[in-house]
Amino acid sequence: MTKRLYIETVGCQMNVLDSEMVVASLRKHGYELTRDQQEADTLLFNTCSVREHAEEKTYSQLGQLKRLKKQHPEKVVGVMGCMAQKDQKLIFERAPYVDIVVGPGQLHQIPELIQKIEEGERRQMAVGLGRKDGSLDEIKRTHETFDPLRDPTMRPTPFQAYLRIQIGCDKFCTYCVVPSTRGPEQGRSPWRICDEARILAGQGCKEITLLGQTVNSYKHVGGDKTTRLAELLSELHEIDGIERLKFVTNYPKDMTYDLLHAVRDLPKVSPYLHVPLQSGSDAVLEGMKRGYTVADYRDMMARIRETVPGFAVSSDFIVGFCGETDEDFEQTVALTKECRFKNSFIFKYSERPGTKGAERLTDDVPFEVKQRRNNDLLAVQSAISEEENQAFLGRPVDVLVEGPSKLAVKKGSEDDQVLQLTGRTHCDRIVVFEGNRRQIGQTLPITIYDSTAYTLFGNVVTEEVGSETFSLQIV
Ligand code: 5AD
Ligand code: SF4
Repeated sequence: MTKRLYIETVGCQMNVLDSEMVVASLRKHGYELTRDQQEADTLLFNTCSVREHAEEKTYSQLGQLKRLKKQHPEKVVGVMGCMAQKDQKLIFERAPYVDIVVGPGQLHQIPELIQKIEEGERRQMAVGLGRKDGSLDEIKRTHETFDPLRDPTMRPTPFQAYLRIQIGCDKFCTYCVVPSTRGPEQGRSPWRICDEARILAGQGCKEITLLGQTVNSYKHVGGDKTTRLAELLSELHEIDGIERLKFVTNYPKDMTYDLLHAVRDLPKVSPYLHVPLQSGSDAVLEGMKRGYTVADYRDMMARIRETVPGFAVSSDFIVGFCGETDEDFEQTVALTKECRFKNSFIFKYSERPGTKGAERLTDDVPFEVKQRRNNDLLAVQSAISEEENQAFLGRPVDVLVEGPSKLAVKKGSEDDQVLQLTGRTHCDRIVVFEGNRRQIGQTLPITIYDSTAYTLFGNVVTEEVGSETFSLQIV
């Protein structure tokens, strides 16, 4: 008998990938997806703990299930992901109608845990050992067996997929819960990664985004062979069908020349690097224990500039970190202007229980000040993005078409309808243009005629066959 699964995902790309794998494994147990909570036999919430706001939203969503669970006690409710690992039993206390709590390293147990609940057993909890002895083996077992389970319907698009190459994090930035929720850093074995990439390519994936918390620190030692990201990219580059390779998120200190040479020399690798700076003040970086200085980040930018033509760098920032003064913030603004990021994700510092920041530092910047700095930095970044995008006017770019932007039917029948389509350049800029459904999934040359801070607008380049030869310079 078909059962129905409702699954909601918040947080990073890792979570999106985890949800894809959970869906794949539950399909094997006869589940179909539904968007309707009423219709669902099992409801799963894949959660994020990076900021308090995300957790509170999840608790409020769980609160809304109270009535549904009262009317239908047979429905199974599960909480998975980082908040499950971090809060563990607290989830049962705050939301007593939750049946299952399962951490990011135990996701393969979900079908079995659901079955136990269905058989009348009480609440089930499967969480990791944290960073205690044995946690490494435990997490390794999970991902090495679980990752190859994939579900194409859960991907961003049928031709774009995520692929995990690294698990956990060992950097211990003082604000961050990830090292405790996702455990110690480990690189997956290159042959498993390449096998998985071949399966994805066989399913029609043209773009693969490699995932890791500090993806460019990737390292795998097997026998006497050490593989780093540069070598892994070369191996993946050989796989037919894959047109684009991206990797997120990068750690500034590990942006080596070897890797940058691979980005420069392997045409399938996007010249797009997401390398969070977090702050432009040495004092704040020290408090965050980020492990680099402003001078180190500048050196990294210089290495990228000198090595990778047509590069785009984006960043994350935390404003209002413990002790951040106006002068510290001004330094962040100045460095943002100097680095000219393609775009930046800006967050207000959120103290996370269990982190060194929460234990040793005081969250002393008032909320209004965090908000103001957030707005100010966003305005600075938007002005930069707008200027950078203007440089594309009149230029052709290669766009992987992702799908309709908004349905703006102009003329023609179902198949020939003119739509607003959206896609991305090789350097990750969003492009909107008019096209038709058949172009979705293709890589097209588009000439840019207009731009804003967030979007480029273009027309499909139609090459004239005939007297004039027309050469395209793709950026
Ligand atoms: N508060 C605010 N932002 C945070 N991030 C991570 N932890 C916190 C926190 N406690 C941000 C960082 C990171 C991004 C994914 O989330 O900028 O790069
Ligand atoms: Fe968190 Fe720092 Fe690891 Fe990134 S590098 S996941 S911010 S601890």
